[in-house]
Amino acid sequence: MRTSSLALGLAALLLTPTALAGAPGPSVTAGEVTVLSGPDDDPLFLPTDVAVGPHGEAWVADGVNRRVALFSASGRWQGGYTQVGDQVLSNPMGLDVSDDGRLWIADADLGRVVVRTPDGDLERLLEAPAELGPMEPTDVAVSDDGARAWVVDNNGHRLLVFDLTTGDVQVYGSKGQALGQMHNPWLVSADSRGNAYFSDVLNGRIQSVSPRLKPRASLGSYGVELGELFRPKGVAADDDERVWVSDGDLGVVQVFNSSGSMIDVVRDASGAVMRLDTPAGVAWHDDQLLVVEATRNRVLRMPVTVVPGRRPAPPARPILDSKPKDCTACHLELMPMLAQGLPTGIALVPPSAPDQPPASREAACFSCHDGSVEDSRRPVWLEHGHSSDVLPPEGMEVDPAIPLVDGRLACRSCHTAHSQGGSGRSCAEAVFLRVGEQPMELCLACHGDMNERRSPVPHDQGEPNENPRPSGHIP
Ligand code: HEC
Ligand code: HEC
Ligand code: HEC
Ligand code: HEC
Repeated sequence: MRTSSLALGLAALLLTPTALAGAPGPSVTAGEVTVLSGPDDDPLFLPTDVAVGPHGEAWVADGVNRRVALFSASGRWQGGYTQVGDQVLSNPMGLDVSDDGRLWIADADLGRVVVRTPDGDLERLLEAPAELGPMEPTDVAVSDDGARAWVVDNNGHRLLVFDLTTGDVQVYGSKGQALGQMHNPWLVSADSRGNAYFSDVLNGRIQSVSPRLKPRASLGSYGVELGELFRPKGVAADDDERVWVSDGDLGVVQVFNSSGSMIDVVRDASGAVMRLDTPAGVAWHDDQLLVVEATRNRVLRMPVTVVPGRRPAPPARPILDSKPKDCTACHLELMPMLAQGLPTGIALVPPSAPDQPPASREAACFSCHDGSVEDSRRPVWLEHGHSSDVLPPEGMEVDPAIPLVDGRLACRSCHTAHSQGGSGRSCAEAVFLRVGEQPMELCLACHGDMNERRSPVPHDQGEPNENPRPSGHIP
């Protein structure tokens, strides 16, 4: 039991980041950063995960490009692989390398895990038995003894646990907020004792599971203070019973003990919190941390030193207070402290401008539509005819009701929220097209001069209004 004076003392510490930086306690410091990126003419695109092989080589899930990419131990580009044996990859999202050098690829579109031998052959496929329904595997972690694979079924809100010897598959978890339940699990890692750790994205925590499939602990809880998680994405258990966790929106990596207590946030040499751009999958190898920076299309690798120390446990909070709120899931700026314009120990106040509320920014949409909750990377960021940050061409008259940002198209030019009577209480319900009735209304707001030459509905032959998905950016 904590005494209230200790809780008060810690609350004071958390309110003053400088005092915290100076306090004795554990410190986690990154050294010189190596950048792993593809060649200029064949870059990675919105990669999701990274895994390291026995010789220090790094594999990257480059699913929008339908491939896995390989970097040598020195960080040099070795090429991309779109196929394993005769199995053509479609959307590899999560990876693991087992100690024997086999590469395990969770392909969300194929609905299976593809296993590649060190020689590049197809060894086996993991598929859910028919009675368990389809799975959308977004990541896989193999136990050290090679006996078990933990597979995350993102859309199914569960883990499928494969016994690699017998082929049996067990289901762990269901959709919900209790321990053992989850809301869009995304990436997973296993430790040397056979426990698994997975990011429980919309519940804002990492959960751990024992080898006997019992829920063990929650690492971090929903929030924006040191030791809390807003949008947990990547997770890696190292060999010293520590767990590294990236937060895609806060742009930091934090490290916890495997039992759930907080160690620290990764800092730079000056002791300041290290800021990363949309960090996703993480991996740990030989005292080095690897982090995917999704929207930078690259992976960072850095040696990290951990100086142990004791950090007082944070003050207990009412359980319900640490659950994601319907509103803050999209409105980071409404979290405590940030709403008052104050940064926390790890979070900066999100940028805001009258013509671009924080929740309407491209980064806010990417935070869920990057594959962790919905995978819209291809329809929105690759195949669209419309991008954000584009100036309307000369001669286009944009209806004054359509908001532009600095005169350019933004996501909010066409999408808005809360306007059509939706409660705003669920993601699917909250964001709409900026129109009253027909999508065509929206098109005409900019393409008022639509004529035969520029057909407003690219995939429709003559009955424009019946096309349910008439966007230029939807295939
Ligand atoms: C699925 C995401 C989502 C959820 C959930 C959501 N909002 Fe929003 N909200 C948005 C977006 C996007 C905008 C910006 C709309 C625009 O650009 O016109 C917005 C705009 C707003 C605005 C006006 C602009 C601003 O930022 O001040 C308010 C107020 C607001 N939301 C309140 C709420 C409240 C209260 C809830 C919870 C009941 C909620 N929202 C839930 C996405 C969401
Ligand atoms: C908190 C997570 C979250 C955020 C943030 C978010 N979305 Fe979504 N979005 C979802 C989910 C979940 C769905 C539902 C997908 C489904 O059920 O098929 C969805 C669906 C959509 C749809 C399809 C709706 C339909 O009618 O099928 C659009 C369009 C969309 N989002 C746009 C946006 C835009 C634009 C933003 C940023 C302004 C945004 N979203 C931010 C989670 C989110
Ligand atoms: C010029 C208009 C326009 C712009 C700009 C635009 N969108 Fe869309 N978007 C659409 C239309 C139209 C649809 C189809 C809606 C539907 O089917 O209900 C769509 C669909 C979507 C969907 C659902 C995709 C799916 O998988 O079905 C998402 C997510 C989305 N947009 C996000 C975004 C984001 C994020 C941005 C900013 C980077 C953006 N959009 C910019 C018009 C636009
Ligand atoms: C906010 C203004 C805006 C709205 C609303 C809008 N567009 Fe566009 N559209 C543009 C701009 C600007 C371009 C040029 C895009 C570019 O260069 O990225 C464009 C380009 C296109 C193109 C590609 C044309 C080409 O030459 O390649 C198609 C097709 C298209 N729009 C269809 C639509 C449809 C269908 C809708 C309704 C769902 C729509 N647009 C709504 C602004 C808009």
